[in-house]
Amino acid sequence: MTTVLLDVDTGIDDALALFTAALSNEIDLVGCTIVWGNVDVEQGARNTSEVLRLAGHGDVAVAVGAAGPRDGRAAVFSPQVHGDDGLGGCADTAHEPTLAPESAVELMLRLSHEHAGSLEIVAVGPLTNLAAALDADPTLPERIRQVTIMGGAALAPGNVSETAEANIWHDPEAAQVVFDAPWELTMVGLDVTMTSLITDAHRARLSAGGAVGRFSSDILDFYLAYYESFSGERASGNHDALALAVATGLVRTTLSPIVDVTVDCSDGPTRGRTVTRLEGEWGTWPDRDGARHRVVMEVEPGFEERMVDLLAA
Ligand code: BDR
Ligand code: CA
Repeated sequence: MTTVLLDVDTGIDDALALFTAALSNEIDLVGCTIVWGNVDVEQGARNTSEVLRLAGHGDVAVAVGAAGPRDGRAAVFSPQVHGDDGLGGCADTAHEPTLAPESAVELMLRLSHEHAGSLEIVAVGPLTNLAAALDADPTLPERIRQVTIMGGAALAPGNVSETAEANIWHDPEAAQVVFDAPWELTMVGLDVTMTSLITDAHRARLSAGGAVGRFSSDILDFYLAYYESFSGERASGNHDALALAVATGLVRTTLSPIVDVTVDCSDGPTRGRTVTRLEGEWGTWPDRDGARHRVVMEVEPGFEERMVDLLAA
């Protein structure tokens, strides 16, 4: 059983990760911190509260975090990917969200004390909240078992630009702070999340299930249409749930040697690119002194089948 804090910008694929975290017997979801990203932070909090309520876990604390990037630039959202409401037009308007009285940083720090040494942070949005928590308490890494992020791309091109993945591109300065902190960090980039694809066959199985399955199927319709618009195929990356699965041992992975990942914080065309230095003979490189990052190179196939079974049950 892994004790997990999920940092989310809910978002269609974030919702699948939340359902997985809430429903898996292997995961103890102790809190959710909300960051801007796919939608504004208030909408992300409403969506998270709704998803947890649907999964029967409305008691999990949901705390609102950063509303925009670390350096004060304007926030850019992704309605074309996730819909105006972040849930493909399916967001609930009937229920008031249940939100924690504390901020995202306060919740993260409190949980790090309550679960010192065992808390796994899984961050699947821009890394603004994690960077703010490190500002507030630089000793935070001493109490965290590991940080796993969905973000970046080891060798592949990006999805918001030729070189950058969305979560890192949204806030490269915050990402660099998080990569620089003295904690164990595993990066689950686009290279691997685009090998775990969700299709209409999965939607069909989900829609034959209960409330969680039907809702997942409904929101995925928008996501699949977006992927189809540029790839011609109704097959979407299972980004955020796969990062959760890596963090919690729900999927077997092939990891890189320990490397130092850096982030391009320039204003040029490669802004937001993760530089992993894995190009070339990465498989034979020795672990480097002082480096702390692991990059997931491959995952065993089939996690998405198990996830769909879980959500449809
Ligand atoms: C990431 O960006 C967001 O749109 C998704 O929720 C995921 O976390 C994929 O690049
Ligand atoms: Ca996300």
